[in-house]
Amino acid sequence: MRKITIAIDGYSSTGKSTVAKQLADYLGYVYVDSGAMYRAVALYAMENGIISDTHFDKAKLIETLPQIQLYFEKKNDWEKAHIFLNNRDVENEIRNLEVSGFVSPIAAIPEVRAKLVAQQQEIGLKKGVVMDGRDIGTVVFPEAELKIFMNASAFQRAQRRYKELVEKGENIQFEAVLKNLEERDHIDSTRKDSPLKKAENAIEINNSEMNIEDQFHMVLQLAKDRIAGRV
Ligand code: CDP
Ligand code: CDP
Repeated sequence: MRKITIAIDGYSSTGKSTVAKQLADYLGYVYVDSGAMYRAVALYAMENGIISDTHFDKAKLIETLPQIQLYFEKKNDWEKAHIFLNNRDVENEIRNLEVSGFVSPIAAIPEVRAKLVAQQQEIGLKKGVVMDGRDIGTVVFPEAELKIFMNASAFQRAQRRYKELVEKGENIQFEAVLKNLEERDHIDSTRKDSPLKKAENAIEINNSEMNIEDQFHMVLQLAKDRIAGRV
């Protein structure tokens, strides 16, 4: 069966990684969460005095950009990229609200993007890749056979993300999660370099009223049509 490239973009906490993992599992593809790579750079900047609530030393970040390594973890027939920061496994540290608070200004820096996009494009060379992020359909894989753009109401997204973080044991307020989502959406969609926007030929899905299973079946059908060359 021919392998395609699937680009999933959209606002924060719209269910991109959930559907991307399901697709990779079903199709036997490689799944890459590109946001995790930007989060790892943000963690590096936080740990090295580059960014805080009161300052951001962009020059130091550009001078000392860390190595972000992807280790492909085998899961039955599919693979999930596991993120390392300068050879340290950071998969569990990068998803908290503190990192979420610093990641968007970091991801707006062109030098950061250039380095990570080059890595992402290299992974894409072999096809059979599902990647989610903000600029996958527009910049990373403009030739992707299937592009999805996901959205849902900010309130619904914040509720989903809040529940997830509380279940992980984070002591947070709902309002802080909502505020973070709205701030990131704003920075991500108004930055100069590769802003979050729907690619012209992307299919938009608003899943405010859609459960995980329905969303998966909808996207899977779109993928099957493209694999079979029906579209
Ligand atoms: O999971 P969530 O939607 O909250 O965020 P994420 O996918 O982990 O992405 C974290 C941040 O990384 C985003 O808010 C963007 O600032 C940045 N990002 C980006 O600029 N480009 C991408 N391709 C992926 C993420
Ligand atoms: O990757 P992204 O930040 O776009 O979102 P996610 O991590 O896949 O999904 C955020 C949360 O929303 C997860 O807890 C999902 O289980 C949940 N979700 C949901 O409840 N219903 C949907 N239709 C999509 C996602």
